[in-house]
Amino acid sequence: MAKDAGVISAIGAVSANGMIGLEGWLPWDIPEELAYFERTVAGAALVIGRLTYESMDVVPEDSFIVSRRDELSVRPGCRRVDSVEAGLQAALATGKPVFVIGGASLYAAAWRYCHRFYLTRIEGSYIGDSRFPEAVDWRAWTLESEIVQVLREHKTASDVRCRFQVYRQLAPLPLAAADCNLAAG
Ligand SMILES: NC(=O)c1ccc[n+]([C@@H]2O[C@H](COP(=O)([O-])OP(=O)(O)OC[C@H]3O[C@@H](n4cnc5c(N)ncnc54)[C@H](OP(=O)(O)O)[C@@H]3O)[C@@H](O)[C@H]2O)c1
Repeated sequence: MAKDAGVISAIGAVSANGMIGLEGWLPWDIPEELAYFERTVAGAALVIGRLTYESMDVVPEDSFIVSRRDELSVRPGCRRVDSVEAGLQAALATGKPVFVIGGASLYAAAWRYCHRFYLTRIEGSYIGDSRFPEAVDWRAWTLESEIVQVLREHKTASDVRCRFQVYRQLAPLPLAAADCNLAAG
C-alpha cells in the first residue's frame, strides 16, 4: 500500500538481459510480480507514459498520462500532461504519494526527480522489445531493502529468482526547479 505523501517513486521490473517490455506488455508472466506492483502503488497518483497507459486494462483515478499529443483523450479520472515534470507536479498536487510506473521513456525522463526506485530484478533472460534505459545512473542510488523470492514464470513454465529491491536516491533533483506548465486536457 502506497504511503509517504509528497514522495516521488518509480516502480518497474527488469530482466537479466535488460528487458522491460514485449509488444506493449511484459516479457514474462509472473502473477506475484504483478500483484506486488498493484499492492505497492495502491492509493497513489500515477505518472504513466502514453504507450504503457494504452496497454493497461484498468487505470486508477489520479493518473497522469504523459503525451505530446494535444488531441489525446483519456479515460475518466485520468489527465493528459505534456511533460514528465508537469505530470509529477500535478500528481504531487493530489496530496497522494506519487509513482512513475513507466515505460522506458518515462523512467529515463523522471528518474532524477525520484526519491525511491522500486526495482524488481528478474534473474532470467526474456525476449523483449523495450529495454530499461541506460540513462538511469545507479551510482546516484543506494539499495535500501531487498526481498528475494523464487517465483513461477508461466510463459516458460519455469521458476525464476526475483529480487524485489528498493533504492533511495541520494540527491534527487528538486522538481521546483523544473518547467511545470500543465497541458490542457
Ligand atoms: N517492466 C516494467 O516494469 C514495465 C513498466 C511499464 C511499462 N513497461 C513496458 O514498457 C513498454 C512501453 O515503454 P515505452 O518507453 O515504449 O513507452 P512509454 O514510456 O509507456 O510511452 C511513450 C510515450 O510517452 C510519451 N512521452 C514519453 N516521454 C515523454 C516526455 N518526456 N514528454 C512528453 N511525452 C513523453 C510519448 O507519447 P506521445 O507519442 O503520445 O507523445 C511517448 O511516445 C511496454 O512494453 C510496457 O509493457 C514495462
